[in-house]
Amino acid sequence: MRDDEEWQQQVRQRLLAWFEKHRRPLPWRQTRNPYAILVSEILLQQTTVEAARPFFERFLQRFPTIHDLAKASLDEVLQVWAGIGYYARARHLHEAAKRIVEEFGGHIPSDFETLLQLPGIGRYTAGAIASIAFGKRVPALDTNAIRVLSRLLGWRGDPKSTTFQKRLWDAETALLPDEAPGEFNQALMDLAALICLPEAPECPLCPLQPLCAAAASGVPEQFPTLPQRRRWRKRREVACVIWREGYLLVAQRAEGWWQGLWECPRGEMLPDESPLNAAERLASERLGLTVTAQAILTTLTHTVTVHRITLTAVECRYLSGELRLQGYQDARWLPLEEAQRLPSPSPQKDLLAFLTHQRRLGRQASLF
Ligand code: ADE
Ligand code: SF4
Repeated sequence: MRDDEEWQQQVRQRLLAWFEKHRRPLPWRQTRNPYAILVSEILLQQTTVEAARPFFERFLQRFPTIHDLAKASLDEVLQVWAGIGYYARARHLHEAAKRIVEEFGGHIPSDFETLLQLPGIGRYTAGAIASIAFGKRVPALDTNAIRVLSRLLGWRGDPKSTTFQKRLWDAETALLPDEAPGEFNQALMDLAALICLPEAPECPLCPLQPLCAAAASGVPEQFPTLPQRRRWRKRREVACVIWREGYLLVAQRAEGWWQGLWECPRGEMLPDESPLNAAERLASERLGLTVTAQAILTTLTHTVTVHRITLTAVECRYLSGELRLQGYQDARWLPLEEAQRLPSPSPQKDLLAFLTHQRRLGRQASLF
């Protein structure tokens, strides 16, 4: 933690000055009524600001005070809640209202620890209510505020881990101004929503830029976590290019990603198998044909979802057998030009184009 007082003072001043100019005019910011703020914070746990806006007003019209809410039946509350989902929130809010009326005479507790005891209220919501409605000096760190704060401090960590959250919580506790901690918390939320965006933070527009460790690093978007490196799964496949008297065998897939498309029959290679052996095995398993594999023609790579697929094309000569299809719904012996006119997966189009090209070069031993 940067504990130099000068830096902290700068953060407070700059953030609060920015917030004064740029704060979003949200309906729950027109009030200091703790009940309204409680409702808004429960709502904002799982609903976006835009969706929460009209709903918040409707809810308060229907249940203007905590007593109205406590008196209502759960059914009535759920009916009003209809449409924005996560009904557990509505149940908890109703339950909390009843307890606040019974135990605290209808006064929302102002104390963080007491708020935390109420159903549906976690550290974030308790912090938000205590700071925004009662001016208590407590952090309110949700995912968004965590992002801004960890960038400002230049800290990397898993935003879901409690140890990382605890460190940030302590850092923000030191950073909060004595006056207006609720403003400070909401300023972090607005900075997160308007400037310090997850993928592309707008540092040049940010009031904290001169103070921000992540901005200084040049890769602010890499805080608090480095971008996930894509984990490719490797897959080796063989395509059987089977010729019989000048005709190429193409088959129509019966299932999966490419169902209905035509291709040179293919399948996955076994771990220690050579492409030529794989081609002979696949011809037998998937087509019921006996072939001799003659040569590797080419290797193509492509990507399907998380799979990086290497497709090795093996030239084969038909020997014997009648078509018995596995995983294919149809198969035809066709001249290459005709095979090319059928709809195919794009790596297979590349393969057919390769075969045509090769034939043009006259290298194809069209002996089969
Ligand atoms: N998200 C959660 N609480 C919020 C608040 N008070 N203002 C804006 N966004 C929020
Ligand atoms: Fe976020 Fe950039 Fe501002 Fe730092 S300078 S808080 S990274 S927007």
